Amino acid sequence: MRQQIAAANWKMNLTLQQAENLLDEILKAPYHLKTYQKVVLAVPFPYLLLAGQKIAGHNNFHVSAQNCYQKERGAYTGESSAEMLQSLGVEYVILGHSERREYFGETNSMLGEKTKLALSCGLTPIFCCGESLQIREAGTQNDYVETQLKESLFSLPEEQIRKIVIAYEPIWAIGTGKTATSAQAQEMHFHLRRVLAKQYGDAVAEEIPILYGGSVKGSNAKELFSQPDVDGGLVGGASLIAADFSKIIEALK
Ligand code: PGA
Repeated sequence: MRQQIAAANWKMNLTLQQAENLLDEILKAPYHLKTYQKVVLAVPFPYLLLAGQKIAGHNNFHVSAQNCYQKERGAYTGESSAEMLQSLGVEYVILGHSERREYFGETNSMLGEKTKLALSCGLTPIFCCGESLQIREAGTQNDYVETQLKESLFSLPEEQIRKIVIAYEPIWAIGTGKTATSAQAQEMHFHLRRVLAKQYGDAVAEEIPILYGGSVKGSNAKELFSQPDVDGGLVGGASLIAADFSKIIEALK
């Protein structure tokens, strides 16, 4: 059974006290998660240890970073390495979020390096891809997203690509309140799975979770997650509201 994931991306939000309160709120709800369903909390770097302590004993919960650097170690002031994350007990790392691509100049090749390093440290990358509104309007989104995958991931051997989680996040839907329709999400996820199958074969493509991100809310998660190739969501704004995020967790099928 392919894994299903409700992933929270807190981005650069919340003070320590607020973070602690939100973690407590999220964790107090009684969830009935199946073994293949996971909750991943991508909190800011300063709260990674706290989140790790809070989720102890909550079986299906995992902690994620929102980024890591593409070098192993050294004189890179202000950066954090994959090895550091691993040493904190962090299990996942979001890579290539569109905000990182846009504001921090992250390229497909840079993200390929980050992905390899993350995997070599035993982290599971949540690799983000997705097109801008301009590309969607030109109708070239399938090719665009295919290139993102190819240039960052397709030099990985089969046993490594199988450890990846992909998040499709159309930029026009992020933080805008404008969600892709479930049909649009399914169409792209199906395309991504075919792209993976062409490179690695059907069995591998069938195994890789593909999450949808972009204005996922408590009110639309069930409909989005009901699509056959949508294996959960990467959630920004709504993950900062405990009741909303709990509803999203419960929407895993
Ligand atoms: P949003 O963000 O849910 O606020 O649209 C999603 C994301 O950027 O991961």
